Amino acid sequence: MEQTLSIIKPDAVAKGVIGKILDRFESNGLKIAATKKMQLSRKDAETFYAIHAERPFFNDLVDFMISGPVVVSVLEGENAIAKNRELMGATNPKEAAAGTIRADFAENIDANAVHGSDSAENAAIEISFFFADREIS
Ligand code: CMP
Repeated sequence: MEQTLSIIKPDAVAKGVIGKILDRFESNGLKIAATKKMQLSRKDAETFYAIHAERPFFNDLVDFMISGPVVVSVLEGENAIAKNRELMGATNPKEAAAGTIRADFAENIDANAVHGSDSAENAAIEISFFFADREIS
């Protein structure tokens, strides 16, 4: 069993599709081991995305991620990291395969509905950023 971190971003929360996105996970064999809705601070977003600090889109990314509440979840299942990325679709919704979360709910590469961990190493870092062990079951 593998765990991964999912974020439903401010655009998807504002659209009222939290339930529809969580259903994609559960309907495709990913258990929601933890979940919570929260408002990120600027420091939270900068720390979470520190890996992108030198990229030209960093400031816009941080501004967007604090523009409204997000829903962070731990998803658990066989090959959860790859499975979640498959369900999300490509980072740029214009390139996302039909039927993926980003194809169905995202507007553009900045407002792209969801984030998912890209490796086991980053999943462990990202999960511990948001959740204590006792919150995950
Ligand atoms: P996410 O998977 O959350 O990881 C970093 C985010 O930066 C990414 O989704 C996009 O929403 C955003 N972003 C904006 N521009 C780019 C870009 N050119 N390449 C990758 N990510 C980008």
